[in-house]
Amino acid sequence: MKRAALVSILGILMVSGLAATSGCKKAESPADPAAGAAKGAPSMDIVKSSFGILPDGTAVDLYTLKNANGVTAKLMTYGATLVSLELPDRDGAFADCVLGYPTLDGYVKNSPYFGSIVGRYGNRIAKGRFALDGKTYTLARNNGENHLHGGLKGFDKVVWEAQPFRETDGVSVKFSYLSKDGEEGYPGNLKVTVVYLLNNADELRINYEAVTDKPTPVNLTHHSYFNFTGGRRDILGHRLMLAADRYTPVDAGLIPTGELRAVTGTPMDFTKPEAIGSRLAQVKGGYDHNYVLSKSGAPLALAARVVEPESGRAMEIFTVEPGIQFYSGNFLDGTIAGKGGQVYGKHWGFCLETQHFPDSPNHPGFPGTVLRPGEIYSTRTVHKFSVEK
Ligand code: GLA
Repeated sequence: MKRAALVSILGILMVSGLAATSGCKKAESPADPAAGAAKGAPSMDIVKSSFGILPDGTAVDLYTLKNANGVTAKLMTYGATLVSLELPDRDGAFADCVLGYPTLDGYVKNSPYFGSIVGRYGNRIAKGRFALDGKTYTLARNNGENHLHGGLKGFDKVVWEAQPFRETDGVSVKFSYLSKDGEEGYPGNLKVTVVYLLNNADELRINYEAVTDKPTPVNLTHHSYFNFTGGRRDILGHRLMLAADRYTPVDAGLIPTGELRAVTGTPMDFTKPEAIGSRLAQVKGGYDHNYVLSKSGAPLALAARVVEPESGRAMEIFTVEPGIQFYSGNFLDGTIAGKGGQVYGKHWGFCLETQHFPDSPNHPGFPGTVLRPGEIYSTRTVHKFSVEK
């Protein structure tokens, strides 16, 4: 029997109604769930349990966040990963709408970044090399000759500290991680926090912050594979809109050439809603491209909207980031059996990763990604879920 299964019922801790202690700006004072119920207020909760133990003996915790509408998000400390996301369809039937594994084991052995936080630098850095303030840095090369998603042991493969909070209109978990100077080749000790908040407007908000003691590139993102059929079919029928009229074309190694190219009149154009599958065959290798968002910077701007026509499940993504990576699950090849034993074939999930552009450290013309001592890296993305009748 798997160790994860053995321990999964241990250590259950109800933090619903417990004091939100310190360290989170928006944290509210203790809520009394019983009093809330008496007033007819919606009930939200956070439950902490164990998700298993890593081969080195480190315990991995799971936080189950539930909002007043029954939307549930499960987050684990390994990779600050969204393990499951239960959303209603137009008949009110809930289904898990992100790909992943039933136990920790799968995530540790072979995960294509299912649901994780990606860093220190999301997406690719050409040849694992960049120059900063006159010095050249060499990073781990884990994707052919390139560096991908933070390297051999990126933020998706480390155990984060976690602290749950109960807030005015939602429940949240704050994940913290210290990425040491030299980790995967990056300069500087980088202190990172990522807060996931699930609120009663059915939004999953992700707020990222980081500080460093040496200049370093930083580009954090979230890597869920969404499938609003509840993971039952591929995602080709989902209709997608991207608020972007340009994208960054790539070379054979998926490194941007530096050009910002118009999408007009091409299969890359999602400025009006289109089924993901309708023109996919015309895109070599499938979609795996960074789109240049038409609006970026504060306040949050709409970046993407997706609707799954049969279930009616829909998602809007808002961000302050300048780009979004649209990945149509091209490398899923049927070798992974995920939750419920479901085999994940090609295009079984799609990712929409809000980000700065890939390989920015080698493209002075792209928006900058260098964080310097004394500055605060701060970014945010909102996933708003709804149902189309
Ligand atoms: C991102 C990349 C893809 C791939 C996936 C993970 O979306 O752009 O090329 O690496 O992550 O498999």
